[in-house]
Amino acid sequence: MTQPRLISGIQATGSSIHLGNYLGAIKQWVQLQQDYEALYFIPDQHSITAPIDPAQLRENTLRYVAQLLALGLDPAQCTMFVQSHVPANAQLAWVLSCLTGFGEASRMTQFKDKSDKQGEQTSVGLFTYPCLMAADILAYQAELVPVGEDQSQHLELTRNLAERFNHRFGETFVVPKARLVKAGARVYDLREPTKKMSKSASSEAGIVHFMDDPKVSAKKFRSAVTDNDGEVRFDPAQKPGLSNLLSIFAALTDTTAEEVALQYQGGGYGALKVDLAEAFVAFAAPVRERTLGWLDNRAALDRILAEGGERAREIAGATVARVYEAVGFLPDHGRSGRS
Ligand code: TYM
Repeated sequence: MTQPRLISGIQATGSSIHLGNYLGAIKQWVQLQQDYEALYFIPDQHSITAPIDPAQLRENTLRYVAQLLALGLDPAQCTMFVQSHVPANAQLAWVLSCLTGFGEASRMTQFKDKSDKQGEQTSVGLFTYPCLMAADILAYQAELVPVGEDQSQHLELTRNLAERFNHRFGETFVVPKARLVKAGARVYDLREPTKKMSKSASSEAGIVHFMDDPKVSAKKFRSAVTDNDGEVRFDPAQKPGLSNLLSIFAALTDTTAEEVALQYQGGGYGALKVDLAEAFVAFAAPVRERTLGWLDNRAALDRILAEGGERAREIAGATVARVYEAVGFLPDHGRSGRS
């Protein structure tokens, strides 16, 4: 029986995956690989929309693959690949960018945030980023896209582009759906709990990285910003810092924030912070060890990506061939395939 297909990706920004990435996205990736034909990739072509160091990008890409494996992705159950190994993604992105309104792209909040940060250095690539992301999804005819909440707007654009293309050129794309988790879809910065935990935050103090020394992470939890009234209650509007800790604890231990609040009621914030730090370290320390193990075996990582790339090219190449025909490009009789 064929399984329904899903796809998702994570940018290799910096050397470590953070807790927001895990709770919002990767935790569900690990669960879903059993019931879906799952494809997971590193969008390295997206990474060059910000200033990068080439050697660092190469190293971080492998480090992310190692961390994804350590967190539970299993190449026997899913396809892992690197975006730049599949030419079809960029080929499809061009076609989709010609269907995307300029105003529509201008409304993307991630573009607004990132271009504010990049200022004069903002590139056209950053502006058209959502078209490449739509291509990443539509090229694979995926039904489901497991992501954190910050990707919802990009997913809405992807759905609109799929519907628009199908309407104009005939049924070609599966219209995909975003899949968000209940607890952890938006993890906030431990120091600035009204901002999402993000690799581009101005300070490291509020971000928990899997590759950090676990002692450093434990300290970040213990010194997380909360409030002064001391009442343990899940109330994101009034108590963003505390509620963030309750949500993280809930997501890590597969319960609800309300349940955790009940458990620590009357106990003050100290015990909650200490126990959360311990729970994280118990989970993250072996992940870090396993990652280092994978990084000692780079030939195995290369093999996984080579096999994954082959499978990805097969699927995405077939979609691009259909798209090229649908939009009216003349068949290229000099070539057997188009991927
Ligand atoms: P990226 O690399 O910023 O993040 C990877 C995944 O982690 C989720 N995430 C969070 N979830 C909860 N709380 C947070 N604080 C948090 N921070 C990040 C993100 O929602 C994401 O699911 N544009 C994408 C990469 C991409 C992609 C794709 C994803 C490119 N093409 C196609 C899916 C399908 C990005 O930059 O994610």
